[in-house]
Amino acid sequence: MGLASDRSCEKNLGLYADENAAIPWRQTNLMFGKTLDYLFLRSLAHRRNLATEEQLDLLFRHASTESFDKAVLKLRKLVARFEGYFPIASGLSYLDMGCGSGELTLAFAKLGIKRITGVDFLPRYIDRARAQARLTGAGQGIRFICRDLRNWTPEEKYDVLLSFDALEHIDDPGAFLGKMTNFLAPGGIAVLAFGPLFHSPFGDHMWDFFRLQIPWRGILFSEQSMLRVRRECFRPTDAARSYRDIAGGLNLMRYSEFLRHVADNGWRFDYLAVNTFLNRLPPLRFICDMVVMRLPVVRDYFAHNVCATLRRAP
Ligand SMILES: C[S@@+](CC[C@H](N)C(=O)[O-])C[C@H]1O[C@@H](n2cnc3c(N)ncnc32)[C@H](O)[C@@H]1O
Repeated sequence: MGLASDRSCEKNLGLYADENAAIPWRQTNLMFGKTLDYLFLRSLAHRRNLATEEQLDLLFRHASTESFDKAVLKLRKLVARFEGYFPIASGLSYLDMGCGSGELTLAFAKLGIKRITGVDFLPRYIDRARAQARLTGAGQGIRFICRDLRNWTPEEKYDVLLSFDALEHIDDPGAFLGKMTNFLAPGGIAVLAFGPLFHSPFGDHMWDFFRLQIPWRGILFSEQSMLRVRRECFRPTDAARSYRDIAGGLNLMRYSEFLRHVADNGWRFDYLAVNTFLNRLPPLRFICDMVVMRLPVVRDYFAHNVCATLRRAP
């Protein structure tokens, strides 16, 4: 199945800036030193969302139609955000990479999709996705597989590869963008929507246990202190000592690295948009596109989310 494109849309800028510009702050920083960082962060944290892995497993056992209804709405918005570069057609096969508990995967059935496979490596998510599939009466063509995408070989190839809010989590995203080409049917495309990116203001994904959100917290404060507070206030049974070690962790990829990985792995953009939430704020949209995204190093600290449709370069 070939998904023809006679147009390509790179809405946001930065594609032609120097992708090889030196990247400062490769390591996460120490704001005040490890101990003071910890004491400061701990004073801003709460324990209202604290849960052990066992409690999370139990929580994910219950399916509900409520989350499904929300997902259908979310998917419609997501498709609209791609301005016509997100193909929805019942004859196509779809692969949802990093599907989590499958709400969005299942929402595709509501849009008329008959063949879609969701893959995630966390068993509790796939258990929940399968329970949701039973509850919503999903057809035979909709299935869920519990596997690590980085070493999974699919039985078939897919017309449309999807990935929502997962590319900032999957470890070694450069290698993964290469691996994705093995999942793709001839003429197929990949539709990616992800973020917040780690180096953007709220990219540390740690908002669930802080009372006050400090922009760029993940790069300002020491990784060890952040993870220590996370263990004490949020996930006491997750021993992760680094962002990468968290189950379904954070790969710390920068926007400029994403652009480079795309090119290095023989993809090209049919569509690229950054910080789509600014579309409703035209003056900020203008500043973002005309100034921020044109400054090679600065843009990495402001690129919050990315929507991209990729196809194989000729
Ligand atoms: C933030 S969740 C997004 C879930 C879903 N796509 C959504 O939008 O609701 C990211 C997901 O990627 C999954 N993930 C990360 N690395 C993975 C890998 N190597 N293989 C499979 N799944 C992975 C995580 O388990 C997690 O469920």
